[in-house]
Amino acid sequence: MSPFLLTRTLPEDATGAALRADVLHGLGRTPKTLPPKWFYDARGSVLFEEITALPEYYPTRAEREILVARAAEIARITGARTLVELGSGSSEKTRHLIDAMETLHTYVPVDVSESALTGAANTLLAQRPSLAVHALIADFTRGLALPGTPGPRLVAFLGGTIGNLLPAERAAFLASVRDLLSPGDALLLGTDLVKDPSVLVSAYDDRSGVTAAFNKNVLAVMDRELGADFDPDAFEHVAAWDAENEWIEMRLRSTVHQTVKIAALDLAVDFAEGEELRTEISAKFRQGGVRTELAAAGLHLDHWWTDDRGRFALSLSTAA
Ligand code: AVJ
Repeated sequence: MSPFLLTRTLPEDATGAALRADVLHGLGRTPKTLPPKWFYDARGSVLFEEITALPEYYPTRAEREILVARAAEIARITGARTLVELGSGSSEKTRHLIDAMETLHTYVPVDVSESALTGAANTLLAQRPSLAVHALIADFTRGLALPGTPGPRLVAFLGGTIGNLLPAERAAFLASVRDLLSPGDALLLGTDLVKDPSVLVSAYDDRSGVTAAFNKNVLAVMDRELGADFDPDAFEHVAAWDAENEWIEMRLRSTVHQTVKIAALDLAVDFAEGEELRTEISAKFRQGGVRTELAAAGLHLDHWWTDDRGRFALSLSTAA
């Protein structure tokens, strides 16, 4: 029997306190914003899994294609004995990598969702019982302390989730990852790439309305967690390409003038008719930009792999 350890680095109510702070700050300013991490309660996580199977949402399939094609190469180049995965979720795509890593000793999945961590660990250990799994319940955007596991380490941040951070947040995040790396360690980063805006907008505004339901789910999260009275039917889903910043913005547009009450914050929030709440940015990248952002954090881009259609990239970098 290999060990399964679960370490909580977040206080039990960290999530509730952080949600209250984000809502108070984000809905009290103009334009209104919320960080995308609040989409992912149990229902939001199911909706996200549905998104990854939509015909319009290509990033998951494109990244899986690269992982399948390059897993053996990544395993050989890094020779990693520890794989740290930030925002591991279901760990589904990572399996391709894990299966190719014959030297792998310890897997360290890091996620805010305890249920995702235990579910993924159980599935993995059923198939690879010799692997040590040390799961961390942690918010990786807030500085990480890793368990002392054998090196070299490969830190993976997949799915293009780095695109959900604003440029300043990305810089701080990459610098904190750089601080985790010792000589011989590496970072495997997934980034969605700039492409025809119509392809991008369709990926975030699918015909079957799953992304709209995912976007509106954040309203249900605030209703349940904060005693708010958001009516999802009084908002419409918006996905727009920002050509200057090269990111997709998801927003919720109030279809009427309304005042929403948030009991837990003792707050009333006014929405003008047509007023938009930004719920997510999803930045799209070019190789030069990724290289520059990595370099600014003290990382050197060593390898760049894309899917056949050049839609998505995985990069492998090391401490410069
Ligand atoms: C995979 C989490 C990065 O930005 O594409 C999917 C989340 N948002 N559809 C992305 C998402 C809307 C997503 N991440």
